[in-house]
Amino acid sequence: MTNLPKAELHVHLEGTAPPDLVGRIAARNAMALPERLLGVDGRYRYTDFLDFLRTYDLAASLMRTGQDYRDITYEYLRSCAGAGALYVELTASPDHARLVGLSDEDHLEGIARGIDDARRDTGIEGRILVSAVRNFGVEPALRVARYAAERPHPYVVGFSMAGDEAGFPAGEFAEAFAIAAGAGLGCTIHAGEWAGPESVRAALELPVTRVAHGVRSIEDPALVSELAARGIVLECCPTSNVVLGVYRSYEDHPLPQLRDAGVKVTLGSDDPPYFGATIAGEYAVCAARMGFTEDDLREVTRTAIDAAFCEEDLRMRLRSRV
Ligand code: ADE
Ligand code: ZN
Repeated sequence: MTNLPKAELHVHLEGTAPPDLVGRIAARNAMALPERLLGVDGRYRYTDFLDFLRTYDLAASLMRTGQDYRDITYEYLRSCAGAGALYVELTASPDHARLVGLSDEDHLEGIARGIDDARRDTGIEGRILVSAVRNFGVEPALRVARYAAERPHPYVVGFSMAGDEAGFPAGEFAEAFAIAAGAGLGCTIHAGEWAGPESVRAALELPVTRVAHGVRSIEDPALVSELAARGIVLECCPTSNVVLGVYRSYEDHPLPQLRDAGVKVTLGSDDPPYFGATIAGEYAVCAARMGFTEDDLREVTRTAIDAAFCEEDLRMRLRSRV
C-alpha cells in the first residue's frame, strides 16, 4: 500500500499532533499537560463528539509559537510522505492560534515553513485551508474569512468550517463563505457527520465544491443523486466516523454505496492520533473492509487531486505522478 500514490484533503493540523509531540511542545513552552487531556493509556481522552472537540481545543491551547506549528506541520507531512502521500491539504484554525496570542501571520509563517521543510526533505507538497469553527460563532468566522481574503498567501488555497454542525447551522455562515469564495478560495464545510441530510442540504446552499464527511447524505436518496449530479466531492474519513460512533463498523459505513451511486469520494484521516488513523490506514481499510481494488484507490487519489484547491500547475504535476 505504501507504493500507491495518495492524496489527503481532510486533516486538521492541530489534530495531527500526537500526545508525545504535544508533550514536548508543552514542556518547551513551560506548561504542564492538563490532567484531563490524556487517559491512563497515554492517548487523548474524550467521551463523545462534543467532548472530543473540547479535548482538541485543550491540546491546541498548548501550541503557542510559529515554531510549534512548523514542527507539527513538518512531522505530519513527513509521516505522510513515508506512507506514499504526494499531497496533503492541512486544515488550520487561526482562531485556535489567536486564542493563545499567536498572530495570524506567525501562525501561517510557521505552517508554511513546515511545508517547505517537508518538501525539501521528502518531496511531499502541502497547502493550507484556513478553518473557522462553527461553535466559536459567526463573527470569528467572518474574521477568518476576511483575513484570508484580504491577505492572500500562496499556500492558503481554501476556506473550511469545522466544529458542532448540529448546534450551529451552515446558513448562519453564508457571508463568511461568500467572502472566501469571492476571493478565489476553494470552499468546503463539515456536514453530514454529526447531523443528517438536512445539514448537507444547507451546506450545498454555500459556494462549496466539497463537503467534509457528508456521509449521512446516504439517508436521503435524492440528496445522493444531487451530490452525484453536481459533482460534489466528499472528504470521507471512515476511521473517524467509526471511532466517534457515527457508524458501528467499517462494514456499516456508506462510502462504497456513495461511490457506487456516482458520488465522488476521497479519503482523510481527520484527526489521526485521536482516532488511531493514518492516511495509509484509510486506504488500507477501503481495500480490506470495503471492497476497493488498487485501481479503485488510484481513482480515489485522482479524484482528490482533481478536487484539490491548489494551483493548476501543481495539480498537473501531481496528476502525472498517479
Ligand atoms: N474539528 C476537528 N475534527 C473535527 C470533526 N471530525 N468534526 C468537526 N469538527 C472537527
Ligand atoms: Zn474534520
